[in-house]
Amino acid sequence: MGKNYPTVSDEYNKAVDEVKGKLKELIAQNGNAPLMLRLAWHSAATFDVNTKTGGPFGTMRIKSEQSHAANNGLSTAIDLLEPLKQQFPIISYADFYQLVGIAAVETSGGPNIVFHPGRQDKDEPPVEGRLPNPNQGSDHLRDVFVKTMGLTDEDIVALSGGHTLGSCHKDRSGFEGPWTSNPLVFDNSYFIELVAGEKAGLIQLPTDKALLGDPVFRPLVDKFAADKDAFFVAYAEAHMKFSELG
Ligand code: HEM
Repeated sequence: MGKNYPTVSDEYNKAVDEVKGKLKELIAQNGNAPLMLRLAWHSAATFDVNTKTGGPFGTMRIKSEQSHAANNGLSTAIDLLEPLKQQFPIISYADFYQLVGIAAVETSGGPNIVFHPGRQDKDEPPVEGRLPNPNQGSDHLRDVFVKTMGLTDEDIVALSGGHTLGSCHKDRSGFEGPWTSNPLVFDNSYFIELVAGEKAGLIQLPTDKALLGDPVFRPLVDKFAADKDAFFVAYAEAHMKFSELG
């Protein structure tokens, strides 16, 4: 769609391929794809299209952003990744954290996601409070995803499927438990469980349940529950979009 991507050197592209392979190994070894995907998402989802601030520009490397309440637990992932990042000084943190998210999805059985290199690091973390609040509903999701980030209703539903990976932790968010019974596998089970309703041992956040009661979101939830391929296509597109905000 006429997007102008930055040009990077052959050496840079080679480093991207190499680091992506190493990220996949590291994530598979540690079994922490969920935390790594959350890191990439939180690195990007602070983007405000109105002020052109925040977004995937590597600011998550800065301690003050790691200490935002919504980022509880992410410093563990960042510290684990740092030795690998040190081996690739040529790559920006901005590109690196977005490669982390793509490697996490791909190693868990999710769709391949297109990566364009060339993000440059910024030194100013976003203000705190931009990430979505799990206790809110559809209006809030649209405020954050559509009005602030510049994404679409379909992106909201597809990206919510990122919760097919991972769990909530009492000491991080106050919530507890996984969304699905296979939290290390990226598939469409998030939507299947959402439609099936609450189940002992599995979590549904208020923002997850909000998708069920909304006339635009609901048909997409049903479609993704019934059709994994349709979810993968929509997810891969929406993930690429969040990774390129700004
Ligand atoms: C729709 C708005 C969203 C809200 C309100 C939200 C909220 C949350 C909360 C409260 C947690 C639990 C954190 C913890 O206790 O460890 C969580 C975890 C997670 N989120 Fe989201 N999230 C949203 C969207 C997304 C998106 C778009 C993605 C990725 C595409 C994503 C990926 C994840 C992953 C993978 C985890 C699990 C982390 C782990 O297992 O350590 N979330 N999210």
